[in-house]
Amino acid sequence: MDPSLEESQAIALLDLLSARSMVSTTEILNTLGMSAQMLSVAVRHLASWGLQIRNLDEQAYRLDSPVQRLRVSRIRSYLPPTWRDKIGISVMIVVDSTSTRLLCDWPDQVPSAIFAECQTNGRGRGDRRWHSPFGANLYLSVAWTFNQPSSELSTIPLAMGVCCVRALASLGVEGIAVKWPNDLWFQGAKVGGILVECYRSNGVLCVVTGVGINVNMNRGQLRSVEILWTTLKEALVIQNKAVPDRNAIGSAVLANIADGLKLFSGSGFGPFRDEWESSDLTRDREVCVISGSGNMMGVARGIDDKGALRVETVAGMIHVQSGDVSLLVAPK
Ligand code: BTN
Repeated sequence: MDPSLEESQAIALLDLLSARSMVSTTEILNTLGMSAQMLSVAVRHLASWGLQIRNLDEQAYRLDSPVQRLRVSRIRSYLPPTWRDKIGISVMIVVDSTSTRLLCDWPDQVPSAIFAECQTNGRGRGDRRWHSPFGANLYLSVAWTFNQPSSELSTIPLAMGVCCVRALASLGVEGIAVKWPNDLWFQGAKVGGILVECYRSNGVLCVVTGVGINVNMNRGQLRSVEILWTTLKEALVIQNKAVPDRNAIGSAVLANIADGLKLFSGSGFGPFRDEWESSDLTRDREVCVISGSGNMMGVARGIDDKGALRVETVAGMIHVQSGDVSLLVAPK
């Protein structure tokens, strides 16, 4: 959907303010061909997206956190030649959820990916909300089709976790772990999550892999979350590295997911298993499995062939299916 005039003007203002530390009101009006009233509408529009804009004595404007916008051409330019012209890519400014969009309106081209700067109804596992502040993180979903029966596909979410670890490692982010079933963690805090959803249509399984990765989000943008979280920025600071362009991160995640879906189509989970196990955060650690039928303590012992988590309890080994449980990892 094309942006409205109001939205286009807000985006133009955003780009201008993101390019410089401060821009005078006169320059904004002249450069963007706006009236003072249009400018105040655009400022309100940016504020409605959660962006903090300072008006300095009516003379100039400043954006607290400049936004490096996602652009289809940049994402494509970072893709390896094997995928560069073979994936449908769109970038939306504001959307309810990139995954919902693909599920509701299946694309003609597969694979196809939707990225968004902001989600108003970002969804996490177990009906939880995925906080999606504007321009701070990565929110993307990828559509793919499979011909296999659903019973052979229960390990896709785990394979997608491995793809994200590969993508981040290719950008120099070391030490990302997978926390069963498909969280991405860095040093005791969640840095990303994956939500795989599917439906069957005319015998084909349509699968949407949604990935959310915290990139630059600051503490003020997300206070009320029940879980410890971190960002790639925080992880990279510890490693004395700069945060790559969000377009490059998005492209690496997309390329690895597309590679992974293709590989999974032909070979299943086998080629991912070793990497999943070596990045497994809970392996041999005490966990508490929380489910509708109560909590259960035990020691995590990796995954079975269907991707269920094996937990050794006093009552013996149990196999926890994904979907209806949360997991608390006891400190080491
Ligand atoms: C989780 O850890 O609970 C999974 C989070 C998945 C979030 C991503 S953001 C892009 C895509 N769109 C959504 O609404 N959810 C996924």
